[in-house]
Amino acid sequence: MEEPAIILETLNLRKEFGALVAVADVSIRFQAKTLHSIIGPNGAGKTTYFNLLSGNLEPTSGKVLFKGRDITHQPVHRTIHMGIGRSFQITNIFPNLSVLENVRLACQALGRDNFRFLRTASSFRRYEERAWDVIEKVGLKTRALTPARNLPHGDQRKLELGMILAPDPEVLLLDEPTAGMASEQVPELIALIQEIQRGGNKTVLLVEHNMNVVMSVSDRITVMHQGQVLAEGAPAEIAANEQVQTAYLGGLYQLSPQKGQ
Ligand SMILES: Nc1ncnc2c1ncn2[C@@H]1O[C@H](COP(=O)(O)OP(=O)(O)OP(=O)(O)O)[C@@H](O)[C@H]1O
Ligand SMILES: [Mg+2]
Repeated sequence: MEEPAIILETLNLRKEFGALVAVADVSIRFQAKTLHSIIGPNGAGKTTYFNLLSGNLEPTSGKVLFKGRDITHQPVHRTIHMGIGRSFQITNIFPNLSVLENVRLACQALGRDNFRFLRTASSFRRYEERAWDVIEKVGLKTRALTPARNLPHGDQRKLELGMILAPDPEVLLLDEPTAGMASEQVPELIALIQEIQRGGNKTVLLVEHNMNVVMSVSDRITVMHQGQVLAEGAPAEIAANEQVQTAYLGGLYQLSPQKGQ
């Protein structure tokens, strides 16, 4: 059997904020075309780790490899062009622009196309077509002309997903995509993420606090705790891991159906 392709990898990746070690020499290999979740309690370093992958933060030491290439010191606009798309916990939607305009701008501003075509009419049409495709994919076609500020919260999360998808990334970093959503809306968004991952052959890295979601959708799970990797494995292995149970799952989360999140 062929070795599975590793699309993204970190080697002893570390981020210190003064005396605080937010990410402590983390080495993880992400297999292409899988959904790999990163879980861990608040402050474990998950968002910081994503910021290091995407180039939003410079690591203190260690390396990030994308398809074997060292991208450790690439700024965020470069990693987007290479095919790494990320969401933010703080939304970057333009509230007064329509859904379509937001997605079109994301296609345009972050697209991997050459910028010299940006001002031609044909490229505008291309971006507009692409935006319609993306809007359809995330289920917002009937809301295309609605100003983003008027969208219900659940649809805003879909729009954010659309904006990440717009430049057609190979890897999507999704940091708590269901945060703040009413629990009855969560399954629809998760199904959409799965469809994007499987149907689009993408690699998804997911940070998510809802354990039911994580256990059901992940191919692989890495557990972070105080900046370090506590465990890694398939969902069943993680669920059965005693160290994870005591240090983490037993306290904050349960593996049985839960209310809320
Ligand atoms: N810019 C920063 N400056 C200083 N400390 C920071 C900064 N960003 C994060 N930290 C600290 O680094 C640690 C890890 O934070 P991080 O946001 O990565 O955790 P997290 O796992 O994403 O948590 P949550 O589940 O709450 O989102 C925390 O102690 C946090 O306070
Ligand atoms: Mg976080």
